[in-house]
Amino acid sequence: MIETKGLQKTFRHPAGELNVLKDIDLTIKNGEMVALVGASGVGKSTLLHILGTLDRPTGGQVLHDGTDVFRLSEKAITEFRNRRVGFVFQFHHLLPEFTALENVMMPGLLAGKADREELKDRARGLLQELGLKGRLHHRPGELSGGEQQRVAVARALFLNPDVVLADEPTGNLDTRTGQELFDLLSRLNAQKGITFVIATHDKDLSGRCKRVISLVDGKIV
Ligand SMILES: Nc1ncnc2c1ncn2[C@@H]1O[C@H](COP(=O)(O)OP(=O)(O)OP(=O)(O)O)[C@@H](O)[C@H]1O
Ligand SMILES: [Mg+2]
Repeated sequence: MIETKGLQKTFRHPAGELNVLKDIDLTIKNGEMVALVGASGVGKSTLLHILGTLDRPTGGQVLHDGTDVFRLSEKAITEFRNRRVGFVFQFHHLLPEFTALENVMMPGLLAGKADREELKDRARGLLQELGLKGRLHHRPGELSGGEQQRVAVARALFLNPDVVLADEPTGNLDTRTGQELFDLLSRLNAQKGITFVIATHDKDLSGRCKRVISLVDGKIV
């Protein structure tokens, strides 16, 4: 379960202070699939980053299964993020010099897991599951947009996260490919019980989530 209590984020900037998140209280249960919607610039990415500990709040708490994550040491926060959270972004952020297989196993290598063959097997299995059996040795530049995003999803799943935070995962895809990617996320949610929080501008897609969280002026409405 993810909870936020009185969550706040203020950006200090030469142009002035910006209170992006004002007192956000939120509970997301394990296994939920939640859409996060709101106008451009309202703070969806900021909220996802804080939920996933990529950024720190300026006030309030984020609890994952009861643990107040920002009270952990830097090292423990990094470990928590690597072990428990997967990220999918609008632009895939795959490493261009590496193949699909290598990109997917990268989190395992970075986490210091030694058995390369075991990592490779797992990456191969995931890519196969996501319909990319024939693309294992392609580099990102040799894949379609939808394929690149599926590789990014496989990479996000590599270390068996409890929660996947997806920031406009279909924003860069055509309608049909976006729907297919969304179908894939729904299937992973249903079959593996992974919690998904998905920021999206797409009303069709958010409408398919059981729950929609709407951000307006720094608050949830
Ligand atoms: N590092 C930063 N420093 C200062 N201001 C920032 C910083 N990051 C984001 N902001 C501001 O915070 C606000 C929220 O940004 P955020 O990226 O979370 O919006 P968003 O809802 O994801 O928008 P979009 O739908 O366009 O992706 C924006 O007005 C942005 O200018
Ligand atoms: Mg955003």
